[in-house]
Parts: sequence; C-alpha cells; structure tokens
Amino acid sequence: MVLTFAIALPSLLPVLNASALSQALIDSDVTNSASFSTDTIYQIVTDRFFDGDPSNNPTGEIFDKSNNRKYHGGDWAGITQKINDGYLTNLGITAIWISSPVENITTIDPSNNSAAYHGYWAKDFYRTNSFFGSVDDFKTMVDTAHAADIKVVIDFAPNHTSTAEYGSMVFPEDGRLYKDGALVGGFKNDSAGIFNYEEWTDFSTWENGIYHSMYGLADLNQMNGTVDNYLKESINLWLDYGVDGIRVDAVKHMPMGWQSNWLSSIYSHKPVFVFGEWFNGGTGSDAEMDCFANESGMSLLDFRFANAVRSALGSKTMSMQDFYDVVVATETGYKEINDQVTFIDNHDMSRFMTLANNNSSSVDMAYVVQMTSSGIPTIYYGSEQYAVGASDPDNRGDMPSFNTNSKAYKIISRLAPMRKTNPAAAYGKTVERWVNSDVLIYERTFGNSVVYTAVNRSSTTGYDITGALTALPNGVYSDVLQGLCGGGNLTVSKGAVGSYYLGAGQSAVWQYTATSEDAPEIGNIDPLMGIAGNVVTITGCGFGSTAGTVNFGTKAATIVSWTDSCIRVKVPTMTAGYYNIEVVTKAGASVSNYAKFKVLTAEQVAVRFICKNADTAFGQNVYIIGNCLELGNWDTEKAVGPFFNATGSIATYPNWFFDVSVPAGQNIEFKFIKKDAAGNVVWEGGMNHTYTTPTGTTGEVSNYFYN
Ligand code: NOJ
Ligand code: NOJ
Ligand code: CA
Ligand code: CA
Repeated sequence: MVLTFAIALPSLLPVLNASALSQALIDSDVTNSASFSTDTIYQIVTDRFFDGDPSNNPTGEIFDKSNNRKYHGGDWAGITQKINDGYLTNLGITAIWISSPVENITTIDPSNNSAAYHGYWAKDFYRTNSFFGSVDDFKTMVDTAHAADIKVVIDFAPNHTSTAEYGSMVFPEDGRLYKDGALVGGFKNDSAGIFNYEEWTDFSTWENGIYHSMYGLADLNQMNGTVDNYLKESINLWLDYGVDGIRVDAVKHMPMGWQSNWLSSIYSHKPVFVFGEWFNGGTGSDAEMDCFANESGMSLLDFRFANAVRSALGSKTMSMQDFYDVVVATETGYKEINDQVTFIDNHDMSRFMTLANNNSSSVDMAYVVQMTSSGIPTIYYGSEQYAVGASDPDNRGDMPSFNTNSKAYKIISRLAPMRKTNPAAAYGKTVERWVNSDVLIYERTFGNSVVYTAVNRSSTTGYDITGALTALPNGVYSDVLQGLCGGGNLTVSKGAVGSYYLGAGQSAVWQYTATSEDAPEIGNIDPLMGIAGNVVTITGCGFGSTAGTVNFGTKAATIVSWTDSCIRVKVPTMTAGYYNIEVVTKAGASVSNYAKFKVLTAEQVAVRFICKNADTAFGQNVYIIGNCLELGNWDTEKAVGPFFNATGSIATYPNWFFDVSVPAGQNIEFKFIKKDAAGNVVWEGGMNHTYTTPTGTTGEVSNYFYN
C-alpha cells in the first residue's frame, strides 16, 4: 500500500505523540461520578450482551433466543464476565450504560407480542429484574466495573410503567406499579391518581406528549405526591448500590419542573451525571429541546449530532461542510456541549452499518469523528463488530462476536484513552481547518493541548491538503490511529501544516498533550445547579496540584478536594441566583469563563400552578413570576412558562397550568403575566397571590387571573 501522507521532514525532529499519551491522566478518578467528559460510554442492552448465568433465564413464552421480541438470557453476571475477561477494558471504554435494572412485567404485551427484555416496562422500581440478576449480582457488577475504572450508568424510565391501553385489548398486568412487592396502583380504578388519563399522545405539542400516554404505556402522574416520593426514593436505592450515572428515558414526556425537582433531590443525595433522552429526528435547533438541555439541570443525548453524523457519513445525504455547521451550532446553542452525550446509532434507530449499506469503513470513519468531537461518546454494543439491523427489535440482536481484532474495536481502543489524557479531547472547542463536501479537517483545543482530525469520506477521490493552519506546536506527529485508516505523520511548522495527500476513505488523528499550562481552564462544572452544601465538581486543566480558592461570585466555597484537573467544592450558603464560578490557583492565576451556576433557594418541590380565566390575545401566553429565583425574582424576562392550556383533566383555555420546581416550605408571592413573543407584558392586577409551598411532597395551587 502506498504511503499517502507525504512526509516533508524539515529536520531531525523527534516524532511526537507516543510519550504524550503516557502522561498523567486528567480527571481520571472513577469516583468522579459527576462529570463524564473524559469518559467513553458503552451502551448495553443487558438481555442481548452476554448470558453469564443461564440459571436466571426466564422460562415459558417470554424466553426465545430465536425471537428478538423475547428474552435471550443476557444478564449482569455476563457483563461482569466481559469486564473480567478484558473485552470492555481493552476497548478503552470507561463507562457502561445498561438497560433499566428494575423489575418489569413478566407477561407478554399482546399489542406487539413482546416481552419486556428491553427493560422499559417497569412494574417495581424497588426490585431488580430477576432475569438480569439479584441485588448481589448487580453490586458485584458495579464493584467489578469500578475496580476496572469503569463507571456504571443505568437506564431509568420514570415516565410510565407498562402498556395498559390499546383499544379493547386486555393487558394482564394493567400497568400496575408496586413498591417492593406492595401494590401502589393499577391503571383501572386508580382512585389515588397514580396515572394520567389522556388517551394516547398525538405528539402534536410538548404539552400533549407530557400528559398523554405514549403508545398506551400507563403514564405515571409524577405530580402525585406518592409517585413523586416513589421516584425519588427508588432512584436513591440504585444510587446507593454504587451507580454513577442515570440515562433518563423519555424526558420530553414528563413535566420539566418535576424533573428539575427530582434532579435536585438526586444531586443532594449523590452528585451523579444525568442525561436524558429527548428524541429528535433533526439536526436543527428545537427551542423546547434546547431549553431543556440548558435549564432542566440534566444533559441530553445529542440527537442533533447523531442525526448529522448519520447523514454525513452513513447515508451521505449531508455534506461535510453542513455537518460542521451543525457542530458549530450545537457548540453555541448548548451551555455545556462537553456534557451532551453523542452517539452514531442506538436501540431506537438503524445500526450504522445498515444505514451505510454495509460499508464498514463508513462505520470506522463515524467512530473517528465521534471519538474526537465535543460531547461524551457512547458506543452502542455490537456496532464495533459491525452488527446490522434496520429497526427495533432487529437493531437489538445478540452481540455478534467479541472479536478484539475488529477494525472498529481497534479504532475505539486507540482513541478512547486519548479522551482521558488530552484535555482537548474532553473539553476542546472546535475549529474547522479545511473543508469541502467530502473532507473535514478540524481541530479542538483546550489550554495548550490540541487534537487534530482529518477525514475524507469519498470512496473515490483523494485531496491534496495545502495551506491548512493548526494550533499544534512545531513538530512531527504520528497518527493516533497508528495508520489504521491510512494516516501517516503530520509535519507542523509555525502554525501551518505541511502539505499532504488525504486519500479516498482515509482518516487520521494527531494530538498534542501539553505538559504545562499558562493559565487554568474550566472544562465543565457538574452539576450546574445546586443548593447550599451540595458538592460540585469542576474539571479542566492547569488548576495546580495544591489547593487555591474557588469563588461563587465573590463568595469563597469550601474545598472538598483539589487536583490539577479536578476540584470538588461545596455550594456556599448565599442568596439564590446565577453566579460565575472563579477558580484561583495557588499561584494566583484565575479563570471564570464558564456558564453561570444556579444556586437554588432551598430544597426543591414540584408545584402545579393553575391560572383560571386568563383570556389572551393571539400570540400571548400566560407565565408565572414571583419573589424567588425559581419564579424569576419579578424579572419578566425570567418568568416561568409559557403555561399549558389544552389538557382536559387539568386545564383548558381560558384556564392554564404549569408544573414548576420551587423551594420547599416557603411563603412565596407571585403573579401571572401575559406575555407575547416580542416580550410585551400585561401584568395581572390586584395583590400578589401568596402560597406556602409544601415540604417533602408535591403541591397544587389555583387562582383566578385578576384583570
Ligand atoms: C425510548 C426508549 O429508548 C425506547 O426504546 C422505549 O421504547 C421508549 N423510550 C419507551 O420507554
Ligand atoms: C395558545 C396560544 O399559543 C396563545 O397565544 C393563545 O392566547 C391561546 N392559545 C388562546 O387561543
Ligand atoms: Ca441469564
Ligand atoms: Ca408522561
């Protein structure tokens, strides 16, 4: 094979890179459950990965290895085994995301003749799915993972239980919810209001999708005090088993205010990384989705990135230039791009291999791009073995093999360690260095570190790359992929890359990990909201090895721990508000260039505010505004809403409602306002409404709009 990267060595410079990769790890501690930016996640459909204990397999009609809608036997013992035998550690991944571990229905859902092998049909969130294992099996898996420097993320689906409505069909388990074996409620005769009753969602609006059921799945009413407590308590149980992160199912289908209150409870219990699934089919911005990513308190799976990479490198229906534009748009649109979770395929869409017409080099290139892009990469189990499958359930087949020589496996195993050693891979900002419809060369920099990636998706045309600039220091760099995808050495002199030929289908990655920083840099702050006393993790580089100070606004925080790349502090007791977090090193250098941190007023509860009889002109909506940060502190730009007005069982126009996370046990004052898109405000007349918020449960308050 021809060496396509012509090397024009200016001198006898040593080839850089190998030594750099053996440097001290950044933010390496597996106990850092708050921040995942240096991690690579491996998504496992537990039932389909590896059967480590056939004795726990179901019997009867829900078990059939030849049917992708039935259980196949995979379990936590199997995952433990695959950690111990090195398959996952040698792949370089540092976190696993497994199917929801809670007890699911054990009958067949007659609407699609399927078993609950996927874990999305919960029955008892306090118990394990026995087909995956016992509590002890779960803890063994978690301990084994931690000993191998792998974090554990569980899927969690608090939106619903199991299917309960589908025409006249009868569902044997009626969506029933249990608390460690004791019945909480079923869908029929639900006098306690455990579920929402609004038929199926038509997905027409955000509101419609929240309070209606999704495909007949019994829709939990999170605003019910019993349900709210149940979901807060049961997730803590799993966190206490050692879980480091939560992937929240269907976040678009639950009230954002309730979710923020649930997150605040979680973060007070244990600061873990939480990311939600807001399913989205596009690459453009979506106001509600982006607002959720920035304001809810949790990160999101980055569907915009996924859809873009699938279009650019899978179906090739988008140019590389357009792909880059999506990358830039998400970097500016999301407050915390390094905390969004990227993927190229998952259990709800075609496998990348199938999308790419079985062209494995497209899969390889997608991984090169994903592993060097902003955001936390997730590898969907089996796609590193070029598994195929057009749609659910065939995109969730058994793990095809555990071949450690697969090219994609090797690509991931060479790039994942770089995310742990080079802070530019974890936190860097992206800049394009050379682009056309087939080629994208981009660079990410953070502090003095750089990751430089070149890809050419064309299967026929190579390009001479000339005149490309770079932040890489002078030197000759070897390809981090070690030539797996055709890359050779890269020569850099005075901020310019020596000309080279990027052949058809080739890709390469070059990197520079700085040994010292001129100044501290903040990569992430996790979580970005909290109450006094909560522990917050600040990651980045250049913090120095001895503790300096961290200020929230002008107030110094108590330092819990301090390394050069990771600081933990406690949120100070201070007036609620949005604050810059400033890191000041022992040597006196400082940085505070990050998104503002939200200091909440107090522990949070979810309250449903109902506003009756508010007639609005076209384009106007109702919002709430009040005397605490959570209600905007009387700033009309920060009023909370727009309220909903089309849910029959709660409120319909001219009545409105909204579920909001507010401080617990406080006397609050508030008003409703009418506001249009241009920001014109009509204030409610009369005195302020007053309300004492509940403690330890949800609330509801209803008032007429005073004209
Ligand atoms: C999204 C999940 O990823 C999907 O697989 C599941 O069926 C639905 N949510 C409902 O839980
Ligand atoms: C919802 C619209 O968004 C709002 O502008 C209008 O005032 C109400 N419906 C009443 O029609
Ligand atoms: Ca088994
Ligand atoms: Ca719902």
